[in-house]
Amino acid sequence: MIRPLEAFTYRNGVLHAGEVPVSEIADAVGTPTFVYSADAIRSNYRRIERAFAPLGAKLHYAVKASSNLHILRLLREQGAGMDVVSGGELERAWLAGTPMQDIVFAGVAKTEAEQRAALDGRYSPLLDDAERLGGKNIETRGHVGLFNVESESELEVLARVAAELGVVARACIRVNPDVDARTHEYTTTGKEENKFGVATARVPDLFGAFRDVPSIELVGLHVHIGSPVREIEPYESAVRVLLRLIDRLEGAGDAISVLDLGGGWPMSYTEGESPDIEVFAEALTPLLDTRVQNGLQVVLEPGRSILANSGVLLTRVQHIKEGSRKTFVICDAGMHTLIRPAFYRAFHFVWPTRVEARHVPPAAAERLDLPGLCPCDVVGPICETGDFLARGRELPPVNRGDLMAVFSAGAYGMSMSSNYNDHGRSAEVLVDGKRALLINERQQLATLLETERTPRELTLP
Ligand code: LLP
Repeated sequence: MIRPLEAFTYRNGVLHAGEVPVSEIADAVGTPTFVYSADAIRSNYRRIERAFAPLGAKLHYAVKASSNLHILRLLREQGAGMDVVSGGELERAWLAGTPMQDIVFAGVAKTEAEQRAALDGRYSPLLDDAERLGGKNIETRGHVGLFNVESESELEVLARVAAELGVVARACIRVNPDVDARTHEYTTTGKEENKFGVATARVPDLFGAFRDVPSIELVGLHVHIGSPVREIEPYESAVRVLLRLIDRLEGAGDAISVLDLGGGWPMSYTEGESPDIEVFAEALTPLLDTRVQNGLQVVLEPGRSILANSGVLLTRVQHIKEGSRKTFVICDAGMHTLIRPAFYRAFHFVWPTRVEARHVPPAAAERLDLPGLCPCDVVGPICETGDFLARGRELPPVNRGDLMAVFSAGAYGMSMSSNYNDHGRSAEVLVDGKRALLINERQQLATLLETERTPRELTLP
């Protein structure tokens, strides 16, 4: 996959997004701003598609990684289906032009209202706004191609809602295979103690209970063990668990035609951190190819592997403060812009966007052996000690007003950002060749205050 310093490169000491110097973007729209490379997104998508071509895998982009409509449209042009986990993401995927049949609806807490909107456009929360926002024919938009169901309770409600609407909901059961993905505890999802999925042993009963329910068609199994997963072994273990389960289900007369292996596919925040996607594909192909030849459809839900290294976050240094042992580089982006360092202690390579020749970084690494670096913490404006973008780093000398780039910020950056301390959300720019498109305007304070303008007396019983 695209590496951290591949879509965004230093030319004569100046960071470029493709052809465009990133400082020109910051000058035009201000900071903080997320900048994405269209070429990188396309190239990552194609690489995953090619790697899994022997399994004929269908890719459903995990919208949660970065949900900007224009990024969804770009992926749509590559042929991507969409994986959504809320009614909001569902509407975005649809507004981006995804046919409902190409949308997979996952998530542990789908509400009845969300299920209804996924089954019949007339229940969309956008009913009155869809046309203005570019959505066409909401009344005839149909229903999602697949629900990934996480519990018996959810399946019961789905069966009732589908029956009320007179449609059949196609569904996979998300299996919790009790496999350790060996990733951060907050992004481990396939262990028995996690809230996700149905324990393997209970799945046959669920298929049995819903076999004759006319509004539900159970077509397969879904698994997502964590994100990012840096080793192949947990995927192999999970697939083995699922294959045994498929044998059991088929033995009981259930036809399994879909196997959705979720996301979590590898990418590297530092050079060489994860094996290539091809290594994963080559290990999984022999486990699955006979079944695929017999008609099994494999589905993947990549998010981070496509978007993370396709984006950087630009932030302007507001102040420099000399501590006794290190320098604080105080920026206008922080945990409200990119929460990953604060939330998971995640590493993002951070570097000034204009440097002397001796400070051009050869690779994204936790330590670079370059002359004249200074110990720094790169922190944000938020009133929290946990508000940092990078701690304990060595950086070239930085001054007030300099522009910094936070690399690998294309996934789970903007989509996890917040308004904490009343900051508007960032602008987003998509660079395609020589063109830079503003695909999301910076959120203004007036927009933020709009819903609080006038209190409304509630009519209580
Ligand atoms: N499918 C399901 C069911 C998921 O839960 C996820 C991620 C994905 C696909 C996409 O995984 P990816 O390919 O992007 O690794 N906020 C965290 C990551 C949480 C991911 C949650 N689910 C982070 O910033 O690292």
